[in-house]
Amino acid sequence: MAEASRVAPKHPMQFSMDKGLEIPSIPLVLIKIIQTLDEDSSSAKELESLILHDPALSARILRLANSAFYSFYTRVKTISHAIALLGMNLVTSLAIGVNIFDSFTKGAKSEAASINKLWTHSCCVAVLVKEIWVYRGHKEKEGEFAFLCGLLHDLGKVVLFKTYPAHYGALFAVVKSENDPAISFYEEDNYGLDHAAIGEMLAKQWGFPPELSSVIRKHHDPSELGTPMINAVMLADLMAKQLKIGYDGDDGLYEDLSNIQSKLEISDAEYKHLMEFADRERENIEGFFQISS
Ligand SMILES: [Fe+2]
Ligand SMILES: [Fe+2]
Repeated sequence: MAEASRVAPKHPMQFSMDKGLEIPSIPLVLIKIIQTLDEDSSSAKELESLILHDPALSARILRLANSAFYSFYTRVKTISHAIALLGMNLVTSLAIGVNIFDSFTKGAKSEAASINKLWTHSCCVAVLVKEIWVYRGHKEKEGEFAFLCGLLHDLGKVVLFKTYPAHYGALFAVVKSENDPAISFYEEDNYGLDHAAIGEMLAKQWGFPPELSSVIRKHHDPSELGTPMINAVMLADLMAKQLKIGYDGDDGLYEDLSNIQSKLEISDAEYKHLMEFADRERENIEGFFQISS
């Protein structure tokens, strides 16, 4: 019997597609931004005013704009300047990610350390997916969408923390051995659905673009190998785990790394470069996205 089941006894409440999941709400303005993600219809002014209403978010955006990721020559002091330099899509992605993590984790004092690790993991995956995407010759704008896919791939875990804080916190935090099943197994066993299925339910409810919902649903599904964005998220997920930047509740590497790598046509040298890139940025990734208490 695996360690995780002993530490976190089976939970009596189960998610159910039929009974319906109580969908946590996020600010309406955020839903509007999500829905216009691929329409280019929201203005920089609108985005700026949303961000300015949230001092913690404003601070994070400015830190990112002034970070080593973006070697701008001038110091970025205002949100409008950050939007101009980073681009609408990237700032929108960060606003969505930060808002979701913040609104779902309010009051989760004892689980804060685990949620912080999950956030750092998600940020690392986001940075890497964007890098992989641009590496493959895609446009910068698509790279920004790739960033969002990485940031939200484990959305279902955030929901589980919110819904079953103590129980999921214990399941998440337990150190699993290489031979234990993935956390998805325990989620399904305890709650009826795993984080991929729960994340997809929310993504659909909130009107996320279909490609984003699909990444959230299929990022652990080996039968989905061949869809580039899903592959890129899978690869970045494995890299973040190998580098131990953040933590997403799993210690084992369950997906077939070399198969994903070859599907994406990432050579060993490119793989090494990507790993070195993320390792160099470790401190920045870990530092930027600390959840404010
Ligand atoms: Fe996952
Ligand atoms: Fe993950």
